[in-house]
Amino acid sequence: MHYRTLGKTGLAVSEIGFGAWGIGGSYWGKTDDAESLKALRAAFEGGVTFFDTAYVYGDGRSERLIAQALAGAGKKAAVATKIPPLNMRWPADPKTPLSEAFPPDWITLATERSLKNLDTDCIDLQQFHVWTDAWLKDPLWDKTFETLLRLKSAGKIRFWGVSINDHAPNSAVELAASGAADSVQVIFNLFDQSPEEKLLPLCREKGVGVIARCPFDEGSLAGLLSPATRFEPGDFRADYFAGARLSETLERVGRLKSALLENGSKNGTMAQAALKFCLSHAAVGTVIPGMRKTAHVAENIGSSDGRAFAPDALATLRRHAWSRNFYQPG
Ligand SMILES: NC(=O)c1ccc[n+]([C@@H]2O[C@H](COP(=O)([O-])OP(=O)(O)OC[C@H]3O[C@@H](n4cnc5c(N)ncnc54)[C@H](OP(=O)(O)O)[C@@H]3O)[C@@H](O)[C@H]2O)c1
Repeated sequence: MHYRTLGKTGLAVSEIGFGAWGIGGSYWGKTDDAESLKALRAAFEGGVTFFDTAYVYGDGRSERLIAQALAGAGKKAAVATKIPPLNMRWPADPKTPLSEAFPPDWITLATERSLKNLDTDCIDLQQFHVWTDAWLKDPLWDKTFETLLRLKSAGKIRFWGVSINDHAPNSAVELAASGAADSVQVIFNLFDQSPEEKLLPLCREKGVGVIARCPFDEGSLAGLLSPATRFEPGDFRADYFAGARLSETLERVGRLKSALLENGSKNGTMAQAALKFCLSHAAVGTVIPGMRKTAHVAENIGSSDGRAFAPDALATLRRHAWSRNFYQPG
């Protein structure tokens, strides 16, 4: 495992982090806590030192599993969690007043709740689970930001960042330029390469840590989906890949696979190549695949070998970028 520094925080993070949405169970169908604990422990033992969770991933279930798996690990691993917006609305709407999403009391209350679930006295990285740059001009912004600074000086959170709306990297560029946030979390994968245009260069310039999420496009870019794939009841991917979406995606994944093979088998498996793509951008601190199975953990850890895609290979891969939003109903 190779390690990077997350922006200006100075926090050393493993290139492969652990995305802990799936283990929380909500929106992912049935999940088995014993399997999830095995995956978390295998990740930690394999050198993963960054775990990304959120209160809403099973109403604290994902946070509690991480606490259980990392009990006794001390400060060797960093955990990032997220405060849901008070109005529970995703994505953030620029017209929503900050008082309906992140009023100061809510930030404090949600932080205390996550501290309990994580069984810790300090959260390494606290994130807003949605964001719009419109909030920087909201009359409540100064109070909201003061609350975050107070939580920092009280030692309850070390760093603060935001998780950006799906496929909308430019909705946080003003925040990145402002220097107020320590990190941003953004969808960045072989299909959605749009953060490369503005957000990533800006974050690199300003020292804002970047957490690349959904590296597998919810599974397709890991290369295991097929026309016969059916999702369990309760798995949101039944909608995400509904109707013609699955076949359209598989066709593009097939073309990508050929392009990756053209670049030589040194890229590893499809999943490993998808992770390497994210790590090939110097602004990215860590990429956080969701992984509930130990076999997936081992394969994903294997992608951190210090070998990035060369610029000519990246130029080829750029031609496979695909702009769409499957989180919205088809
Ligand atoms: N709004 C937000 O803040 C937000 C939204 C989405 C995600 N996130 C964060 O980003 C993380 C990653 O996103 P995600 O989990 O939604 O999607 P993802 O990482 O793009 O894909 C996860 C899927 O890939 C599968 N997978 C993992 N490794 C694999 C491998 N080596 N081979 C084949 N399949 C593999 C997983 O299977 P198994 O689970 O069965 O192992 C799971 O089905 C989340 O867990 C969460 O921490 C944040």
